[in-house]
Amino acid sequence: MIKIAPSLLSADFKNIEREIKRVEKCKVDLLHLDVMDGHFVPNITLGPMIVEAINRCTKLPLDVHLMIENPDSLVESFVKSGADYLTISFEACKHLHRTINLIKSLKVKVGCALNPATPFSVIKPALKKLDLLLLMTVNPGFGGQKFIHSVLPKIEEAKKFIREHKLKTKIEVDGGINPQTAKLVKKAGATILVSGAAIFKSQNYCRTVKALRE
Ligand code: DX5
Ligand code: ZN
Repeated sequence: MIKIAPSLLSADFKNIEREIKRVEKCKVDLLHLDVMDGHFVPNITLGPMIVEAINRCTKLPLDVHLMIENPDSLVESFVKSGADYLTISFEACKHLHRTINLIKSLKVKVGCALNPATPFSVIKPALKKLDLLLLMTVNPGFGGQKFIHSVLPKIEEAKKFIREHKLKTKIEVDGGINPQTAKLVKKAGATILVSGAAIFKSQNYCRTVKALRE
C-alpha cells in the first residue's frame, strides 16, 4: 500500500496551519518536514521549535527529514518536539550505527537518507536496523527540483535486497515526485512517496494526492 507524505517545504508558511488542514483532508499518511542547516545543504529551513508548533496543528505522524551535519546533538530535541520518524542523512554521519542506536533508544522510528550519487551498498550493513530507507531522487536542499531518473535502478536494488533478506525496512523516495514519476518509483519498489511542489503548487491538493496514489 502506497503512503503519501506531503512535504511542507513548498507550502505557504504564512498560513501553515491552514495548509496542514487542507492537506489533512486529503487523507495523507505522514507530514514530511525538511530540516536544513545551511552546511550539509545550501539552504536553511526549520528547527525543533517549528516542528513542535506544527505538531500542535496536526495528529498526522511527523516524518522529520534531517539534512544537517552532526545530527547526534539535535536528535533528542526533535524527538521532544514530536517527531515520529527521524531520518538522518548518511553523508552527514561520522558514526552511523551510533546515531541510529541513539534514535532507536528514544523510541521513534529511524530512517537514513542516501543522496542520489551515493550507492545502495553503503547502507547494507545498517539496513536491518532501519524502519525507513529514504532514497533521494534530487540533490537535497530545495523543493521543486527535477526528478533524477538514474536513481531508479537503486530503488530496484534496495527492494530486491530487502525482499531477499526478509527485512521490514520501507523504501521512501523524496524529490521531484509528481503523478508521472510516482508511477516509476512505485514500479521500482518505493512505498512511501514524499511530494512537495506537486501538491502545494497545485490548485486542488486532494486531486493531486489521489493522482499520486493511483
Ligand atoms: C529536498 C527535500 C524534499 C522536498 C521535495 O531537499 O528533502 O522533501 O521538499 O520537494 P519536491 O517534491 O518539490 O521535489
Ligand atoms: Zn525531504
